[in-house]
Amino acid sequence: MSGSELREYLSIPEPERLSQVKAILEKPIARFSLVIDVFFRARWAEVLHAAHPGQDLVMLEIASGDTDVIPQAMARDYPHSRYFAANMNRLLTESLRAKTRGLPVDVVVIEEDAAAIQRHLPAESVDVIGFQHGVNDVLQAILCDRDGVDTTNTDWMKTLPKMIEIVQREIGQNTFEQNVRPAFLSLLEALLGLLKNDGLIVMSHYMFQLDLDWGYPPVLWEELIPIVRGWTRSLPGVREVFVDGFDPHWWLFLAKS
Ligand SMILES: C[S@@+](CC[C@H](N)C(=O)[O-])C[C@H]1O[C@@H](n2cnc3c(N)ncnc32)[C@H](O)[C@@H]1O
Repeated sequence: MSGSELREYLSIPEPERLSQVKAILEKPIARFSLVIDVFFRARWAEVLHAAHPGQDLVMLEIASGDTDVIPQAMARDYPHSRYFAANMNRLLTESLRAKTRGLPVDVVVIEEDAAAIQRHLPAESVDVIGFQHGVNDVLQAILCDRDGVDTTNTDWMKTLPKMIEIVQREIGQNTFEQNVRPAFLSLLEALLGLLKNDGLIVMSHYMFQLDLDWGYPPVLWEELIPIVRGWTRSLPGVREVFVDGFDPHWWLFLAKS
């Protein structure tokens, strides 16, 4: 944590900090807070140590938005590493670039659909590809694209109610899987091409209270990783691996097979 972050963290009353940590450990459910960011920086530090103990880490984050959890973890533990993000939304891309400026990590935020990220990075060049609470965003963007809703040049949070409406409709009509799965699996296939042979794709999900309050279907919000796990079973060249201390309901680790 930087000095100003530490001051902000300590200004949150301790019982409040503990209750946020309890909620993210037990349910896991969160609201936007530095406590949650710090929690996930520590979790990703653990992921990265398990996946790639060497200092020469090359990391690609998908659908980062402007969340700097992973580059912050890398700045502490892998200061000489390289962090790439593939992020489509223009405003969030700019914001992430601003937040990560000055970190002792080589940061490149690529404003691009992750499905086309191989235009920017060589094959078999990445150690870890991570989705930090980004799987739902990728699925939502796939649906928006089908509906002609722009998620690139708009304010993501202002578009969120419309996205939730589309997700509700797709779940209600039982068309969610057929409309999302092929595009998601082809994105994963493209990502696999970028991964080194001993690399990992890591997906992390948890629930935001805000999305539930705005009507996100709990059947998807709570079961996102098990649903996606089922889809990946038909993907050639990949196998699931398990990492101690990471609940498979909320974390998915995929290795090249
Ligand atoms: C709300 S932000 C993500 C927040 C973050 N991952 C978190 O910690 O919750 C959603 C971002 O996902 C991006 N996104 C969705 N699908 C994408 C794709 N296929 N390729 C790149 N970025 C994508 C959007 O452009 C947007 O910037």
